[in-house]
Amino acid sequence: MRTDKPSPLNGRRVLVAVSGSIAAVKTPLLVSALVKAGAEVRCLVTSSGAALVSPVALASLSRHRCYLEADQWNPVAPRPLHIELAEWAELTVVAPLSASSLARWSQGSADGLLASVLLATEGPVIAAPAMNTAMWRHPAVQRNWLQIQEFPKVVPLLPVSGLLACDRVGDGRMADPALIQLAAESVFSRGPDAPVATRDWSGMSVLVSAGPTQEFIDAARFMSNRSSGRMGVLLAQAARFRGATVHLVHGPLDLPDAWLEGLQCTPVGNASELSSVLQRALSTSDVLVMAAAVADLRREAAPQDKLAKLELQSVLSSGWVEVPDLLSQLTRHRRPGQLILGFSALTGKDTHLLERAESKRMAKGCDLMMVNPIDRDGQGFGDQPNGGWLLGEGWSRKLPLTTKLMLSHQLLDALMKTRDQAAASMES
Ligand SMILES: Cc1cc2nc3c(=O)[nH]c(=O)nc-3n(C[C@H](O)[C@H](O)[C@H](O)COP(=O)(O)O)c2cc1C
Repeated sequence: MRTDKPSPLNGRRVLVAVSGSIAAVKTPLLVSALVKAGAEVRCLVTSSGAALVSPVALASLSRHRCYLEADQWNPVAPRPLHIELAEWAELTVVAPLSASSLARWSQGSADGLLASVLLATEGPVIAAPAMNTAMWRHPAVQRNWLQIQEFPKVVPLLPVSGLLACDRVGDGRMADPALIQLAAESVFSRGPDAPVATRDWSGMSVLVSAGPTQEFIDAARFMSNRSSGRMGVLLAQAARFRGATVHLVHGPLDLPDAWLEGLQCTPVGNASELSSVLQRALSTSDVLVMAAAVADLRREAAPQDKLAKLELQSVLSSGWVEVPDLLSQLTRHRRPGQLILGFSALTGKDTHLLERAESKRMAKGCDLMMVNPIDRDGQGFGDQPNGGWLLGEGWSRKLPLTTKLMLSHQLLDALMKTRDQAAASMES
């Protein structure tokens, strides 16, 4: 079902495979969401999976028959079904991935339809395991989980902690369907020159700030801005899907909670809290992405009570203090080899905007600066496309309007290129 909304999933062929975990009851929601986002979806369910979720539901929601284990042995099929499906799918999503299916996959066993598809596919595979906490922590399962991450095109989505169907609270819940959908969108948001390996940021530690800060005026009111946190959070997840370990420091967000899964998150309120968390975390990070929209002023002292309406004008006409420039502070304390990407939301004509952005980049000392105009219709804040210019040492390049997820990958690619160039110039 194609959609008119810009969606990276539009027209893409996605195979959703379901194995025998009770989390399979959530997979129909994922299938429905993928179809609504424009993907062409086929479902495959193992025999244990079919005992837990109805293949009829998966067939109805995907608008196509659901494949069962027995279909692999259909004598009238001209080509083996597992090869047909593996070649058809541009992306395979295994949600949920059971301990048994994980074991077969990690050991290269082709025992069953799902196991054969996982060996036959040459495309990316999103793996979302789900099981009881003790099962998940078992050394054999952990070994298999690490093993599949060695495979070149796997996007592993760690199970999350919570109440499990066995009544235990702990790790083992399947990643939220909304996060699995985001991971699928991320796969199709990489440019045509994307490397074959999906995990090219593996081993990197990334610190990202996102969202607005709030400076309290009195007990009830605060000064803030329109940032939803979407750009920073999507960039954080894009880096994580590509293998990085990501620490997200964020103000109040206007986003689905599921989008924070898999990130180390530190929520903050005002600029001073944001500053102390970032300064502490900077020393252990390889890359800093400063996408938070930090308030420029704060109150010298915020009253504990709520101001009366009549007092507001006179109180607010003075008593403001400038918030120190966080990005400049952080770049001054960077280690050699650390990369810093700043964001700058500007308004005005292109030439004026570029001049201001370049002087900001120099003054703040960051390697890259993304400038996004926020005074143009249909771009900028919230669930809107984004674009603008990317500035580096002595160069600038236009970034055409696109989805924030696609832009995130472009920015990650640019950071990687800057790092490689710096390494090459050190060697020569
Ligand atoms: C009610 C029920 C719930 C189960 N839940 C899980 C689970 O969450 N994760 C898991 O790995 N196995 C779970 N199992 C065990 C698997 O279904 C079993 O290992 C099966 O062989 C998996 O086969 P498959 O990977 O081919 O689907 C469950 C079994 C039952 C009966």
